[in-house]
Amino acid sequence: MDHNYEKAVERILCSEEQIKKRVAEIAREIENYYGASDKKLLLLGILKGSVVFMADLMKAVRLPMEVEFMRLSSYGKSAVSSGEIVIKAGLEKKDLADYNVLIVEDILDTGNTLFWLVDYLKREHNAKDIKICTLLDKPDRREKPISVDFGCFTIPDEFVIGYGLDFNELYRDLPYVGILKREYYE
Ligand code: PRP
Repeated sequence: MDHNYEKAVERILCSEEQIKKRVAEIAREIENYYGASDKKLLLLGILKGSVVFMADLMKAVRLPMEVEFMRLSSYGKSAVSSGEIVIKAGLEKKDLADYNVLIVEDILDTGNTLFWLVDYLKREHNAKDIKICTLLDKPDRREKPISVDFGCFTIPDEFVIGYGLDFNELYRDLPYVGILKREYYE
């Protein structure tokens, strides 16, 4: 086992302190937006990448909420996603009409996953109000017309790991977002 696997990190893009500060700020924005609503709030985390952000965000938002998770994956995803989405684990709730649905993601990249998901939730789960909260937004790579409602950081087109984001399933546990050294994936 390599006990120094942080050597894969070229540099830190979002430090623990920066993330903590932004999560608190975004939590206040979410409270202000949903605070006066009569509808129930549902935070919907998309696994696996959102797990760390979701855990911190749900503690920071001081509103009554329910939480759900889905596990999605882009079929044949490599460096470039194909746009075909597979549900690995679906929603327990059937009808979302009574909820303000806030999708919680680690990253909005090409937009293929969320573009598909928003349509799916409307079509199959009767969702009426859907907003998107992401830790990271990489607008340079966008292929679908979708944007973030509550976003923490806009980042350049770099391979990022940590705080939920992986490279070959590793590095999700790093407490910060870092750029992966090119030699690891080229
Ligand atoms: C990542 C991320 C988003 C998606 C974003 O998930 O968590 O769901 O890719 O990319 P897109 O905007 O290009 O669709 P991934 O499929 O890598 O699975 P994971 O969350 O389990 O790592």
